[in-house]
Amino acid sequence: MKVFITRLIPDRGISLLKGRGYEVVVSTKDGVLNKDELIAALKGKNYDAVLCLLTDKIDADVFAAVGPQCKIFANYAVGFDNIDLKTTQSRGVMITNTPDVLTETVAEHTFALMISMAHRIVEADKFMRAGKYTGWAPMLLLGDDIARKTLGVVGLGRIGSRVAYHAVKGFDMKVVYYDPKRNEEFERQFSAQGGSASGGEKDFGTVYTPNLDDLLKQADFVSIHVPLLPATHHLINAQKLNLMKRTAYLINTSRGPIVDEAALAIALRQRIIKGAAIDVFENEPQMHPMLKDLDNIIVTPHIASATEETRQKMGEVAAKNIIEALEGRTPPNLVKDAAANRRA
Ligand code: DGY
Repeated sequence: MKVFITRLIPDRGISLLKGRGYEVVVSTKDGVLNKDELIAALKGKNYDAVLCLLTDKIDADVFAAVGPQCKIFANYAVGFDNIDLKTTQSRGVMITNTPDVLTETVAEHTFALMISMAHRIVEADKFMRAGKYTGWAPMLLLGDDIARKTLGVVGLGRIGSRVAYHAVKGFDMKVVYYDPKRNEEFERQFSAQGGSASGGEKDFGTVYTPNLDDLLKQADFVSIHVPLLPATHHLINAQKLNLMKRTAYLINTSRGPIVDEAALAIALRQRIIKGAAIDVFENEPQMHPMLKDLDNIIVTPHIASATEETRQKMGEVAAKNIIEALEGRTPPNLVKDAAANRRA
C-alpha cells in the first residue's frame, strides 16, 4: 500500500503507517503544495491513501489526479472545509478528520487568548521590553476581569463545550450558548446549582438561546466554535458586531471566514467592540491589513491545536483512519456529510 503525506507531520503517525508495511511518501516541500504541485505529486503514482492538511484544497481535480484506487483522504484536522464533500460522494472516496484529540488544546488556547486580551498581556510585554515601565502605578494598563462575566459560546460542539466547561468551573462565568441543537444534558450538568469555584453561592451556569442576536447583546466575551459551512460564512458581520456591547471582546479559534474580517477591523477601529483575539483569518496566511495597526486585537497564526502532544495525536488518528480504510474496515472518524458533522 502506498500513502502520500502532503507535508511533514510529527513522527508518530508516520511510524504507525510504516509499521504496517506501507510505503510512505512525504512531500519534501517545506510549505503548502499549491494545486498544480499537489496534482503533480499525485498523478500516476497510484497512492492508496492521502494524508492531507487543512491547507490543501481537495477538489474534483485532485480526486481525478489521484486515481480510482485511492480509498481515503485522511484530513489532519478536525475541520474539513478544505475538502469538496459533494465530489467525494460521487467519487466514493472516504474522508476522515481528527476530532476529540485537539479539543482540550483548542479550548486552552481560546482561554489563553481571552485572558491575554482582557489582561492586556501582549501590550504589557511590549511595554516592558520598550523600557517604558518606570514603577507601579494605579492606572497602568488596566484590563478587564473574566470571572463572573458572561461568555457567549457560538456552537456548543466538542470544543465549545470544553470552553464553556472551563468558563463555568474555573471562572464562575455565566455561559450563554447558541447552537441549532440544544444540549440539555450539558445545561443540567453545568447549571447554576452547587457552590462556585470561589466558594460563594453560585449564580452562574449555562443557558441556551436559539437566537444569536440575544447572545451577542448579552455577552462580555463571544467565542466562536462553529465549523465553516455556507451557513456560517460571515456569521459575524457588521450587523452582528453592532449588536455586541461596546465593552465586549470577540474570540475566534474556529475558521477565519466565519467572521467578516473587514467588518471586524472597522468595529475595532471605531470601538464598536472593545477588542478581539483571533487565531484564524479569512484569507490565511494573510490578515486584513487594517488589523495590523490596531492595538485592540491580538492575533496568533492558527496555532490553537499546536502542542507537541496534540499534533502527535492528530497524526496518530489520521494514520489509524488510513489503516482501517486500507484494511477493509470503516475508519473511526469517517466524515459522512457536512450536516452530520456540523460542529467543530
Ligand atoms: C483543525 O483541526 O481544524 C484546527 O483548525 C487545526 O488547528
